[in-house]
Amino acid sequence: MNLRKLALGSVIFFLFVASKTITTVDFLNLPVTPFEYNVSLPNFYANNVANIDNSPANNPITNNGATLGRVLFYDKNLSINRTVSCASCHRQSEGFSDSRTLSIGFAGGTTDRQGMTVLNARYYQRSRFFWDERADTLEDQVLQPLQDTVEMGLTANQISERVAEQPYYNQLFINAFGNNAITNDRISKALAQFIRSIVSYQSKYDIGRAVVNNPNQAFSNFTNQENQGKQLFFTPIPQGGGGCAGCHGTEAFVSTRPENNGIDATSTTDLGVGGVSSPIRQNLVGTFKNSSIRNIELTAPYMHDGRFSTLEQVVEHYNSGIQAHPNLSGILKDANGNPVRLNFSTAQKNALVAFMKTLTDTSVATEVRWSNPFCQTNLSFTGTINSGGFQSSNSILVQATQIQNSSSVTLISSKAIILNPSFEAKAGSVFKAQIGTCQ
Ligand code: HEC
Ligand code: HEC
Repeated sequence: MNLRKLALGSVIFFLFVASKTITTVDFLNLPVTPFEYNVSLPNFYANNVANIDNSPANNPITNNGATLGRVLFYDKNLSINRTVSCASCHRQSEGFSDSRTLSIGFAGGTTDRQGMTVLNARYYQRSRFFWDERADTLEDQVLQPLQDTVEMGLTANQISERVAEQPYYNQLFINAFGNNAITNDRISKALAQFIRSIVSYQSKYDIGRAVVNNPNQAFSNFTNQENQGKQLFFTPIPQGGGGCAGCHGTEAFVSTRPENNGIDATSTTDLGVGGVSSPIRQNLVGTFKNSSIRNIELTAPYMHDGRFSTLEQVVEHYNSGIQAHPNLSGILKDANGNPVRLNFSTAQKNALVAFMKTLTDTSVATEVRWSNPFCQTNLSFTGTINSGGFQSSNSILVQATQIQNSSSVTLISSKAIILNPSFEAKAGSVFKAQIGTCQ
């Protein structure tokens, strides 16, 4: 996982006690008031996606529920050897996807497919998840990686046991669900809330779209090339476009159903949706769900097996490489039933790529509410003070439930949480600590 500098310069902790040994202190950096997790979409977007929202009535997003989900999503204790979290493969800086062709699990094994983005997972009306749609709901899906023998390696029972082991979850469950009962059902609900909160709506595309009546109009904030690419994206193939919006549609840029887009002539190793059930459903062999292509610039490599590393390669596939798979979508066939050849010029191909890059939303990749809340600091002595206590200048720290030999330590604030404290304290000295990095 990337070490990422967090701007916490103003956060200085004073621990009014002495210590013999200090190593690092891990802590959860959560705000006193939870972040807002129900994002306010612009009108054009909210109206357009209202009927493809898969949020179930019994699991609406709450700020405390999504906060719990955020901690679970980033918690490496949820893999059997405590090395991998959900975020190891769904990395914020990579559009909540994985830049590796195949993801790597807790024991070094590789996943069968490329890591999908979880961005805009909320907007898929069929409410099925994974490239082959084998999970029926997001609530079902989120428990599967935890139990996957390559990804995180827990048993169903170990999931709630691992969570219950960590002292910080007690309060987070009370906040989210009213009491501290830790169950797999609640874990799945909280994770699903957090994932549904991750929505992209602050791209260059959104700025342009907000001031026109429909996406086919030219956007005044776009270059000519971007407007040309937009037109190719939205125009159906028989009218000279690329037909892309036919399968990557709505303002969330999601598909409506699994499709075969002709990347192979036959399916041998990965049967996609058709291979999930027994017997095999021949008419769905080689079809795959595609997650949102918002932020596609950040989520390389592309396709279920990560075969393309650039958007140029993707466009060239649609331009000249579509193969006659038996289940190839009708949208990608010509009048004779053969794979279409778009025969775009270089300028048209470049325009299509330029348009896709207007969907990049760097706020998704950086916003703190979706970022790793686990932080580490190195404490260092700065002097001596006689009273015991632990103080934080903006009170993000505290409520230390695990301090060893803590008889002489008094906690002044009660807002945050110290993890794995590895120091021994006695009254009479002071610590001054500056927070350096979050993982
Ligand atoms: C070792 C890497 C790895 C870890 C850890 C991991 N995932 Fe994934 N995730 C993947 C891969 C690979 C896929 C696609 C797998 C497939 O389709 O067969 C995926 C797919 C998904 C999807 C489906 C998205 C969609 O649109 O259908 C969601 C949601 C998701 N993961 C959430 C999670 C959550 C929540 C966790 C932690 C509990 C997690 N993942 C842990 C690699 C990982
Ligand atoms: C018939 C439906 C269909 C059409 C039309 C279509 N796509 Fe796709 N697209 C898919 C499917 C399905 C996938 C995933 C296929 C896979 O991984 O096996 C995909 C994958 C992609 C990806 C990679 C997504 C990822 O997360 O890896 C990009 C980018 C993309 N398409 C762009 C385009 C562009 C640009 C066009 C127009 C030139 C287009 N698509 C037309 C169905 C379609």
